[in-house]
Amino acid sequence: MEVTNVTEYQAIAKEKLPKMVYDYYASGAEDQWTLEENRNAFARILFRPRILIDVSKIDMTTTILGFKISMPIMIAPTAMQKMAHPDGEYATARAASSAGTIMTLSSWATSSVEEVASTGPGIRFFQLYVYKDRNVVAQLVRRAERAGFKAIALTVDTPRLGRREADIKNRFTLPPFLTLKNFEGLDLGKMDEANDSGLASYVAGQIDRTLSWKDVKWLQTITTMPILVKGVITAEDTRLAIQAGAAGIIVSNHGARQLDYVPSTIMALEEVVKAAQGRVPVFLDGGVRRGTDVFKALALGASGIFIGRPVVFSLAAEGEAGVRKVLQMLREEFELTMALSGCTSLREITRDHIVTEWDAPRARPAPRL
Ligand code: FNR
Repeated sequence: MEVTNVTEYQAIAKEKLPKMVYDYYASGAEDQWTLEENRNAFARILFRPRILIDVSKIDMTTTILGFKISMPIMIAPTAMQKMAHPDGEYATARAASSAGTIMTLSSWATSSVEEVASTGPGIRFFQLYVYKDRNVVAQLVRRAERAGFKAIALTVDTPRLGRREADIKNRFTLPPFLTLKNFEGLDLGKMDEANDSGLASYVAGQIDRTLSWKDVKWLQTITTMPILVKGVITAEDTRLAIQAGAAGIIVSNHGARQLDYVPSTIMALEEVVKAAQGRVPVFLDGGVRRGTDVFKALALGASGIFIGRPVVFSLAAEGEAGVRKVLQMLREEFELTMALSGCTSLREITRDHIVTEWDAPRARPAPRL
């Protein structure tokens, strides 16, 4: 049967993929409360559409860090995409580029920065995990820059890996025919099997738990690429990130895979937007599955959104064609939402186009006696 929305790819992926792989992609941390909340919270935001506005022409284009893209829908970094499909990150890169949008490549990709760059032109960001060995980090950042990547998304919510119980039960590890390609030459490309999650052990062994704000400044001494801080969900950290020189902020709870019982990102977004005071752009990822979700995020002040799981699920189902279709469906749904809300450009999407639970009740006329 024809796939008509993004969510449908999840069931197809579940059928196609080995259990260990599907569970790794789908899971959240611990009780997975935040995982559900990332979706549920969108359903509590309603529209206040405007009518009788000429919506015959709709412009969804936007400029992100100076790069013009076709729509405010971008691709979040998700690790190990060759577990989903043999083309892995190559397919994602091609799909993003043909949709005219940005792909973020994970540090833990199963294709290297050079390989992804070789797929052809495209605006790409590189997601960075900071290893204990800073030479490894400096080398990798330099390679990404040389390969034409345009920004670093520094992930700051992962000093240790969240407790993902399916991965523990499955003894999750990278299949033997794959490597974390960016680290292959550095002898850090393999993941040992462990008594629990192989990835959790890898993180405990390699990732630098001492990472702090001064390292955001250090990173700026080794690269000229702008730095997006990925994983901010409070006003306090928004102000610190801007002080530390961040070029932008990604409101993210890592797809609910790190600390459980943090709020959904759509609930946290407005606090961050207010604290940023327009000094840097604010982006969101987490639970975006519909064009209406994209609109709600923009109405709350996001400059754009990123999608994670929809990419790996559609990749598993149909390879590059699947990822293209996900981007196309979201584009069409978002365009329709704009039209039905009376907005012809992103600029016209305002806070007044939505109503949230935390808005003060609107004054009602007194009942007539
Ligand atoms: C992720 N995420 C992630 N983030 C990151 O900074 N580096 C990474 O390597 C990964 N890897 C990864 C793998 C998988 C399978 C998932 C589901 C997620 C988090 C990702 O960038 C993003 O924050 C979330 O996926 C967004 O939520 P949705 O769209 O998956 O709901």
